[in-house]
Amino acid sequence: MKKLFITGNWKSNKTIEEADQWVAGFANLYKKKSIKQEIHIILCVPFTLLYFLKQKIQKLSLPISIGAQDISQFGDGAYTGAVSARQLRDIVDWVIVGHTERRRYFGETDEMLQHKVMQAHEHGINVIYCVNDETLPVPPKVSIISYEPNWAIGTGHSDNPVHANRIINVIKKKSGVDVAIYGGSVTPHNVKLFVDQPEISGVLPGGASLDPQKFFDLIIGASS
Ligand code: PGA
Repeated sequence: MKKLFITGNWKSNKTIEEADQWVAGFANLYKKKSIKQEIHIILCVPFTLLYFLKQKIQKLSLPISIGAQDISQFGDGAYTGAVSARQLRDIVDWVIVGHTERRRYFGETDEMLQHKVMQAHEHGINVIYCVNDETLPVPPKVSIISYEPNWAIGTGHSDNPVHANRIINVIKKKSGVDVAIYGGSVTPHNVKLFVDQPEISGVLPGGASLDPQKFFDLIIGASS
């Protein structure tokens, strides 16, 4: 079985109490059924939950790596509201950069995103870089590319897996990045269709990562 990355993206959801319940639910399911070694689980959560979840996951020995959903394009200093790579590096292994919602609602440009990738790379944080199509530039030093067509995010209408595979093939060739995943309305029911495609090395579920049972089913579905 090939190595697969299942990257949950909680977006702006969950309080500490709700995150605590999620971990308890996930741990319960994991006690009953193991997860294959080839599956790499990354959970990208709001800044407010990073430290709490990292500690919980360590305590319960869950096979989950923690990631942030954003990172400052600047270093430490007078940048009110921003969280720098140096602040994040002890807590996270991963960060999502360039998610379509960051581009759309926060006006993030390709140039800003390139600085974010540089900051993450300088501090040893792996980048999952999101693109909506094969025309968007991909900066150097990206670990994983996530192809997420705009119209598929949060709509319940996922891309056709064969089409996603074809676009991902083009993106990989153009960028030189050899690990790419698919995002956009991934569910426990359709995950296998995506990960079975030769160029696709995992998925990035948003909505389906919020419920521990659904997320666990999705992980098991990917490896079945
Ligand atoms: P969704 O989100 O799974 O809710 O469509 C995907 C994403 O965040 O890219």
